[in-house]
Amino acid sequence: MALIEDCDYLHLGIPAIDAIHAEFAELVNRLAQSDGVEFSDLFAQLMAHTRAHFAAEEDLMRQTSFPGRQEHIAEHGRVLGEMERFAERLAAGKTIFARAYIEDRVPDWFAQHTRTLDYALAVHLHRVQDH
Ligand SMILES: [Fe+2]
Ligand SMILES: [Fe+2]
Repeated sequence: MALIEDCDYLHLGIPAIDAIHAEFAELVNRLAQSDGVEFSDLFAQLMAHTRAHFAAEEDLMRQTSFPGRQEHIAEHGRVLGEMERFAERLAAGKTIFARAYIEDRVPDWFAQHTRTLDYALAVHLHRVQDH
């Protein structure tokens, strides 16, 4: 079973964001199925992808003066810091911690983040784009 199933929160109706979220879900699901060098490579890909994912959302927030951007950007920073700490543990051979992070924390975080902060951004983008 996939860690992140296709469901409502993957379809916010903003094509650029939905495409990034689909790629994020695919990477996490591939991580769950991999081990060894492949797991490490995919973890590095997830870090790079997440940086680009957050930067793309933050660009949209700035371009459209999204009122909730401070809180949203702070949360992105917190998550990147957390992911970096698990990347360091993985590099130190502590694979079990990185795997637990991917399996136990990332899917729940992603569901919650997309349903709240990303959803609020999508509502704002729909509103400004419709006028
Ligand atoms: Fe997102
Ligand atoms: Fe976000």
